[in-house]
Parts: sequence; C-alpha cells; structure tokens
Amino acid sequence: MKKPTVVPRSDEAGSAAGARLIQPPRSSPVVPGVGGKTILTSLPPLSLYVHVPWCVRKCPYCDFNSHELGAELPELDYLAALQADLEQALPLIWGRQVVSIFIGGGTPSLLSGQALDQMLAMFRACLNLLPDAEITLEANPGTVEAGRFADYAASGVNRISLGIQSFDNRALAALGRIHSAEQACAAIEVAQKVVDRVNLDIMYALPNQSIDECVQDLRHAMSFQTGHLSLYHLTLEPNTVFAKYPPTVPDDDSSATMQDMIAEATAAGGWERYEVSAYAQPGQRCRHNLNYWEFGDYLGIGPGAHGKLSFHDKIVRQAKLKNPSSWMAKAVLRDGSHLSEDRQIDWKDLGFEFMINALRLKQGVLRSSYIERTGQSILAIAPALERAVARGLLEPGHERLQATEQGWQFLNELQAEFLD
Ligand SMILES: C[S@@+](CC[C@H](N)C(=O)[O-])C[C@H]1O[C@@H](n2cnc3c(N)ncnc32)[C@H](O)[C@@H]1O
Ligand code: SF4
Repeated sequence: MKKPTVVPRSDEAGSAAGARLIQPPRSSPVVPGVGGKTILTSLPPLSLYVHVPWCVRKCPYCDFNSHELGAELPELDYLAALQADLEQALPLIWGRQVVSIFIGGGTPSLLSGQALDQMLAMFRACLNLLPDAEITLEANPGTVEAGRFADYAASGVNRISLGIQSFDNRALAALGRIHSAEQACAAIEVAQKVVDRVNLDIMYALPNQSIDECVQDLRHAMSFQTGHLSLYHLTLEPNTVFAKYPPTVPDDDSSATMQDMIAEATAAGGWERYEVSAYAQPGQRCRHNLNYWEFGDYLGIGPGAHGKLSFHDKIVRQAKLKNPSSWMAKAVLRDGSHLSEDRQIDWKDLGFEFMINALRLKQGVLRSSYIERTGQSILAIAPALERAVARGLLEPGHERLQATEQGWQFLNELQAEFLD
C-alpha cells in the first residue's frame, strides 16, 4: 500500500506552529514577462487570531508555542499586552471588517470568564467586528467547567473546539493528556449545551493503537453528532519529547487503512471532508480556517502569533515574539519591539503560498481567486499548473484549481510542483 500524505495540521496558520509550513526557496526563478508587482483591486476577508500560550502541562507530542503554567496565569499582564499588541496593529487594518476570531493556544480555556469577557469587549471596541462573526475558543477537556463555559458563551463565544484526542484512557495516558475519557465526554456535553457549533479534535495512528481502536475512537466521536470534526494523523514533531523518545506507532499500511476507514465512516455519517483534516456537517465548516486556506487575511496577536495582511500594492507577513514573557514585556512598550518578523512577501513566492493553502481544500478554489488574492496573473504559475495536470495531480479545466484524487493522496508532491 502507498504511503499516505501527512501534511501540516490545518489549525496552524495563525499559530506559532504555522511557521513550519514548507517555505519557498529564496531563489525562485522570475517568470519572464509576468508580474513583478502585486496590485490588488480588492482586499480579502480579514480574521483575527489570538494566541493564549499556557497549558496545565506540556503534551509530549506538541510543538505549538505552548508553555507549562508554573504559577497562576498572569491574566492582567496578558490582557494589557494583548491590547497594546492589537492597538499597534490597528493602522494596518483601519476600516476593515473582521469576519471571525479564533482564540487558540495553548489552552485558552484556562482564562477566567471575566478575562475572556474583557478580551472580547476590547475587540468590539477596537475592531469593526461583523455582528454574526464566528468566535471560536479552543479548550482542553481537563479545564472545562460548566459555569465558566456558559460565561464564555454569554460574552460572545459561539464555537468551541475541544482537544479530545481519544476516548481511550490508555491512549490518553500515552499522550500525556491531563484528562480522562470520562472528562472528555463531560466536556463535550457542556460545550454542546452552551454553543451550537462544536468541533472535536481527534488524533489517530497513536502509540500502539490498533485499527479497531482507531475506529472505536472515531465512532465514539461521531456519536456526539457535533457539526465539525478535526481528525489528525499523529506526527512526531522535531523538538518534542516524542521526537527524542519515539513511541511505537502504527506502520504506514495500518495508518493508511485507518485513513480509509475514517473516510468511509465520516462520509456515511454525513460529515464532508472539505479539507485534509477537517470534516463538517452541512453549514458547519470552520469559517476562520476556510479564510486561511482561501488565502484571506488574518491579524495575529499574542506571543508567536503570525499574520498575513494585504494592501493594494503588497502583502505582508508578521510574527510576534514567541516567548510569552518577552512578548508581554515588549508589547506594552508600544515601539514595535514585540515583532519578530515583518516583511513583504516576495511576489515570486506568492504562487506557492497561495497554492499550498488552496490545494488543501477538497474542492480547491476558483481560478479567478488567484488574481484577486495575489494580484498576479495566473500565467505566473502556468508551467507548474501544466506539469501538475500532466502528472494527473491537478484537475484540468478553467474554472477551479483543484487536486485530483491522486493529487489529494500525494498532496506534498502536488504542492512541491509550485516551488519552482
Ligand atoms: C492547540 S491544540 C487544542 C487545544 C488544547 N491545547 C488541547 O490540546 O486540548 C490543537 C490540536 O492540534 C492537534 N495536535 C497537536 N500536536 C499534534 C501532533 N503532533 N500531531 C497531530 N496533531 C496534533 C491536537 O489534536 C490538538 O487538539
Ligand atoms: S494542551 Fe494542547 S497546546 Fe497544550 S501542550 Fe497539549 S496539545 Fe499542546
């Protein structure tokens, strides 16, 4: 059986781990007679990503910018720094409407109801927030309390994403999780009571996991009938405990079988796989993540948060200092020293950046969105498009940029075509 593609997780764009996305080589050749300048006639939708960097305990597989909370969470300092971070970015997004907010981590569900309320009030005061904006909060089931979650919802959170990972206590222990399967189930019930839109993160190909155990986990997850599931193949990331002391994980054949079973069971249950790891019931797609994949704009605030912002003549990437204490200390100085990256995307790299995102979507994107979002003629990537079509990895045709079944199976290879 062929080795399945394991592509970067979908929830990473605004987070620190987003930096791991394949980067184009500095030496991308210039396409003769095309581009040289980015001119956008309209700006894409704008989202806000907020990073909360603390967790009760660091999980051994996790390479997110998350830090074990030794003492109490420094809520007041964090909120003050967040406000300073946001206010310094406001001139970059004046007048623009914000369509979604994603409060990710780390473990945002460590925040008190009051802190979360203050945070959302600050966003409403500073930003032109769409009245029905999607506002997601990520939560660890080991930190869920019914009263506090009701407070989050009362403050405006309308979507909760729970890091369940597994319903098997043995697997949860192997993953170093702070919660049991029973707590995971209780957390889902709380979340479903307070908001209409709930996502469950489940990982598979776990240490010593059998195919049967994977299927049982999935069936258990599906039994809650949440509108959204994020199903991630466990990856052993550099600089994690699992990279240093690798656990025994299912071989490629077994994990490929798991992927096939997942595809079958989710489809039969009515969840459409609309992105590599994302499955949704009708009307339940994550608008925030869709905006990343469709090469929309996002402002990232908080330690290690990444952003991508478009202007009529350029597209800019920004990142904030990763270390929470340094970010807090620098953000309040309001002199830009909390930025670790602030650069214009080279127009030669735009094709690759657009395509690695767009191709993650099962239905791809309209060809016309290429010029809308990059300001470039599609001729800039014509040779790569032709090669990908000739290899059977990309659908031919003039309406959409969309992977074929084969391209979907070997997404890394398809994405790599756009590096040249
Ligand atoms: C920021 S965490 C979610 C919220 C919370 N921190 C938690 O873990 O409960 C984002 C998700 O990424 C996934 N994830 C993290 N590290 C991973 C890895 N090495 N391989 C696959 N998925 C991973 C997990 O499913 C996790 O729930
Ligand atoms: S709780 Fe979530 S963010 Fe924190 S270490 Fe574990 S997986 Fe990473």
